[in-house]
Amino acid sequence: MTQSGDAERTGTYLSGLGNSFATEAVEGALPQGQNSPQRVPLGLYAEQLSGTAFTAPRSESRRSWLYRTRPTACHRPYARIDNGPIGGQFSSPASPNRLRWDPLAIPPAPTDFIDGLATVAGNGDAGTGTGVSIHVYRANRSMVDRVFYDADGELLLVPQQGRIRLFTELGRLDAAPGEIAVVPRGVRFRVELPDGAARGYVCENHGSLFRLPDLGPIGANGLANARDFLTPTAWFEQVDRPVQVVQKFLGNLWATDLAHSPLDVVAWHGNYAPYKYDLAKFNTIGTVSFDHPDPSIFTVLTAPSEQPGTANADFVIFPPRWMVAEHTFRPPWFHRNVMNEFMGLIHGTYDAKAGGFAPGGMSLHNCMSGHGPDLASYTKAVEASLQPHKIDNTLAFMFETRWVIRPTDWALAAPELQQDYDACWDGLGSHFRKA
Ligand SMILES: [Fe+2]
Repeated sequence: MTQSGDAERTGTYLSGLGNSFATEAVEGALPQGQNSPQRVPLGLYAEQLSGTAFTAPRSESRRSWLYRTRPTACHRPYARIDNGPIGGQFSSPASPNRLRWDPLAIPPAPTDFIDGLATVAGNGDAGTGTGVSIHVYRANRSMVDRVFYDADGELLLVPQQGRIRLFTELGRLDAAPGEIAVVPRGVRFRVELPDGAARGYVCENHGSLFRLPDLGPIGANGLANARDFLTPTAWFEQVDRPVQVVQKFLGNLWATDLAHSPLDVVAWHGNYAPYKYDLAKFNTIGTVSFDHPDPSIFTVLTAPSEQPGTANADFVIFPPRWMVAEHTFRPPWFHRNVMNEFMGLIHGTYDAKAGGFAPGGMSLHNCMSGHGPDLASYTKAVEASLQPHKIDNTLAFMFETRWVIRPTDWALAAPELQQDYDACWDGLGSHFRKA
């Protein structure tokens, strides 16, 4: 199927069926029947972008062929530039304590998406392809004559304030709070801010690529549906003035200057491409009898590790939903988890916390740290009359990962780090009586 134009369109490659897109911004740009003919139509260069190893199983394989005005190979050496709070040192020794932050302030000085990226936590290692790095972006101006790509992993972007407009090599995407966008490893892009100041969370996935989770006994439908993921059509710009290309490579920023914009892909085909998803389209499933399932029932995307059922990273949301369980403690229960949980709040109030967890804030509960509802939420839940109740006007999320998440020294020194988080569980005293 060949499409032209610049509208977002439905994507299905996340279904793991090996589906492939084909799109051209100029009619006739896409070679037919061959990936790399001796002469590409319209004088373009053919270039393959591989997101998985050549030899990956067909069901896992992701790659796209790009047809562009200049090959990516043409550039002068990259040189280190100041990382700012990107990368950073993970604190050592890592603390087992529960941590929570108020929303990170958006700097008053001119700050674009790259300038405003701060690494707050992470695990694993980009060099060996494990784990995630977790960042927050806080920007107040669009990137101008500057593009970015990440050699260390794919970027799951979770806007919390203001839209981000992504101009990528493979097309354009808008992502608003309540939506997510994923930019694959290596894809170059520029971020513009149509609403002005913007803030959001980023899960940089160093491991296997995000995909839709298997559904098992749920059946063929439910949770996030493949048809609701949108992938851009081909789009390009012809800009012949200096453009800085910044890449993140093994945690550091490197830059080089081109004499033109590298967002010059006129046509492409394949299954390795950016995509977006409106979280309001998530089909939330829960109990209609008693108790409630583990929060894995809210998994939007998963990046498996080599251990079955134990993700390198899961992206999980807590969306509006009806609560109807009888004789049940309805908020998230008290628990300790072998997995490690980083949470953020896009808007509203999270049902396990009466206060202190503001939109734009974040919390970290690492392996085996006890957590759960605060005193006010607990008290309200055990005293409530259990009628059907809709949790509404809220959207929280979690990055969950099998490896301990280490905050950076930068995040631990941030003034937004709450010094009294533990106090939210004060007052949960014993009510035990022997008879
Ligand atoms: Fe938890």
